[in-house]
Amino acid sequence: ETGKFTFDPGYTSTASCESKITFIDGDEGILLYRGFPIDELAEQSDFIETAYLLLHGELPSMSELKNFRSNITYHTMVHEHFKGFMDGFRRDAHPMAVMCGAVGALSAFYHDSTDISNPDHREISTHRMIAKMPTIAAMAYKYNIGQPFIHPLNDLHYTENFLRMCFAVPAEEWKINKVCAGALDKIFILHMDHEQNASTSTVRLAGSSGANPFAAIAAGIACLWGPAHGGANEAALRMLMQIGTVDKIPEYIARAKDKSDPFRLMGFGHRVYKNFDPRAKVMKKACHEVLEALDIKDPLFDVAKELERIALEDEYFVEKKLYPNIDFYSGITLRALGFPTEMFTALFALARTVGWIAQWSEMLEDPNQKIGRPRQIYTGAAKRSFVPLAQR
Ligand code: SDX
Repeated sequence: ETGKFTFDPGYTSTASCESKITFIDGDEGILLYRGFPIDELAEQSDFIETAYLLLHGELPSMSELKNFRSNITYHTMVHEHFKGFMDGFRRDAHPMAVMCGAVGALSAFYHDSTDISNPDHREISTHRMIAKMPTIAAMAYKYNIGQPFIHPLNDLHYTENFLRMCFAVPAEEWKINKVCAGALDKIFILHMDHEQNASTSTVRLAGSSGANPFAAIAAGIACLWGPAHGGANEAALRMLMQIGTVDKIPEYIARAKDKSDPFRLMGFGHRVYKNFDPRAKVMKKACHEVLEALDIKDPLFDVAKELERIALEDEYFVEKKLYPNIDFYSGITLRALGFPTEMFTALFALARTVGWIAQWSEMLEDPNQKIGRPRQIYTGAAKRSFVPLAQR
């Protein structure tokens, strides 16, 4: 007989936490980073400036921004032996499998900054994480396609550097496309943080035990990989490819509403947003800008817009408050920028590293910080005595 115990375990649950970094109002579709609306930051700031804001709580002055940029740039290279580590993966390994393993292994290369009780170690680890994620993500991509790794260049802007490390080849000059770099800045800002989502909570829980920052971030990458979370951008594009044409949309809308059918509209719905995801609006605009700037006519963009239009008029989705989320248009945009679907979640992880490390730092700066221990509701068997095998 299953008994239900209710008793006080004598500790305060850490299932919830306080944070000053990100505010979400799911009913009003509001997302603020340190009080600044996400659309203003995406349109007027850039990745490094917004990263400074998340870490320090205020927009930087000119000198603070210059100093922060150089601190990040200084750490963009990875240890030369790291390449040998990458060679251990199969060529066809999913980039997220590589990111999980590679980032988790960083503490083996940078053990001079893993004493989390030391604020200087926490600061250098923060800079290293933000600086090295593009290099590692680009290495995962180059390794996957069998091309040589491209070293970062210190005179390039963060996203320009990343695009060059992904798409340059030694055989020819690589030209910066400012529109693509600008669009990627917007996309990375949109993905930077999102309060206590599953992967950020994972990073906080792992970091609360005193695990080194690289291990805590690797735990976040593992959690983000799931299709219900960060894997949804890859899943949403595959869904649009499966639908293929506008005339097939009604069939898939019906499937999404059919409880007996496991099909869901990927890139739709959200644990918190029950009105609209403000990031989806900015992402849709960035998608249009990139397609126009690159003169790409992607029929899937038309499918996505028509699917959104139909779903938003359908009473099932309206009643269940299902709206496009950040992942709905991101796949089309990232594919237009030249990334394969397998890289989409790795790009999400690259951007979310700023939120993860900012929240990790915030947690460890709290003098009353305790190890995480989410509460459970026990629904198992009531207390009983052991039965010897001969009597079973
Ligand atoms: C991210 O937490 C975060 O902040 C995450 C994130 C971040 O920045 O970190 O915002 C990033 O993860 C965005 C979400 C990406 N995932 C997807 O797009 C996958 C598809 N979406 C669904 O799996 C779902 O909407 C979730 C996982 C996002 C939310 O799941 P919930 O909380 O279970 O959804 P819900 O409770 O709001 O569902 C209400 C109803 C349910 O039906 P009933 O049980 O009430 O009959 O709506 C249904 C769900 O079955 N439903 C869907 C649906 N999402 C929910 N039906 C069809 N298609 C969908 N996409």
